[in-house]
Parts: sequence; C-alpha cells; structure tokens
Amino acid sequence: MTTKKKNTGISKTLHSINARTSPNDKIMTPKELAKKIIDSVEWEDGEIVLDSCRGEGSFYNQLPNNVNKIWCEIDEGKDFYNCNELPNTIIQNPPYSHLNNWFDKCKELNPKRMCFLLHMYALTDTRIKNFENVGYIIYKLDITKVHEWFGHQVVVWFGKKEIYGNSIIGNLGRYKRNKDGVYIKQIT
Ligand SMILES: C[S@@+](CC[C@H](N)C(=O)[O-])C[C@H]1O[C@@H](n2cnc3c(N)ncnc32)[C@H](O)[C@@H]1O
Repeated sequence: MTTKKKNTGISKTLHSINARTSPNDKIMTPKELAKKIIDSVEWEDGEIVLDSCRGEGSFYNQLPNNVNKIWCEIDEGKDFYNCNELPNTIIQNPPYSHLNNWFDKCKELNPKRMCFLLHMYALTDTRIKNFENVGYIIYKLDITKVHEWFGHQVVVWFGKKEIYGNSIIGNLGRYKRNKDGVYIKQIT
C-alpha cells in the first residue's frame, strides 16, 4: 500500500501559496526598507530608473533627485508588459504570481542593472542561470525579514557582467540519488 506523504510546515505553506486561485500580489514594501535598499547603491546623474510596479510608491517616491524616474502600475493603467521605454536601472518588488514572465520582460528591456525584492525561495538556481545566459550576474545580495511576510526575503541586484564584474554567488549544481541510492550531480 502506498501512503501519500502529508504536507507539513514549509511544504504545506508553499503548496497553499501555489494553490491560490486569486494571487495576493499587492503586498506593499515598508517605506523604510525601500529607502534602505535605495541608499545601498550609487545612483548616476540622469540615469533612467524604472519602478516597474510602483504600487503606493515605496520605491518610486524615495528615488534620489539626480535620476530620471519612470513607472508602471497596472492599477493606474500602465501595464509593465507593454513598457517599451529603456531604463538603465529597474527597481521593484514584483508581483509574485508571474515572476518568470516578469523576469523575462525585465531582461528584454536590457537595463545595466535590476533589483528585485523577492521571497528567498524565489531565487532558484534555474532563474539565476537564465539571467546568466543573457549576460547578468548577481553583484549584490542582501537578506531581510519583513514581519508578517512568509519566511525571509532577499534583495538581489543583477548587473551586466561586463560592467559589474564577476559574481561571488556560485552554483554547485543539483544532486539526486541514482538507482543505487547514491547522490550524483545532475547535468542541467
Ligand atoms: C508586490 S506589489 C509591490 C508594490 C510596490 N512596488 C511596493 O514595493 O510597495 C506588486 C505590484 O505590482 C502591480 N502589478 C501587477 N501586475 C502588473 C503589471 N502587469 N504591470 C504593472 N504593475 C503590475 C500590482 O498592482 C502591485 O501594486
């Protein structure tokens, strides 16, 4: 008889998030955290900075005065997927229910760098690889925790390899048991 493994703890929570019929994408970033993220990097005079989904403006409203800021927000009639302006930097806390499409759109706009506030589990080896395949590396990564948000969050900065150099984030591969029960590295 096969017994189905019961979901518990984190696994249960992740399953319930994936099973949501109406995704909860409208989670606003605490203003103080957004400011801390903005202040953690240098901003060039006149660079074009896009907040791709500005919500209530935690990022957008606090960007420094020396940049040219632009925005999208679906609730205000500006769908990011229709954006054809070319920013130097994109900064955002993206909607979680369509992250892969969001990442693809960000890459299509070809900025020199882009910053994402993400759930820690959203930063997978496959997604990092997909950025690397089009010339981006992680050049800065910070961990944070917003009380009441599930788990921990990461603030990840992808930058063009030729500008930002080598990443210190490595990928040691995936490991799976073979038929003899021995863990082997999978070719991905
Ligand atoms: C996680 S919230 C973050 C809001 C804000 N950036 C912040 O950090 O407080 C994601 C936002 O994405 C917006 N959004 C969802 N789909 C969008 C789209 N296709 N284009 C632009 N904005 C979108 C939602 O309305 C929501 O305001």
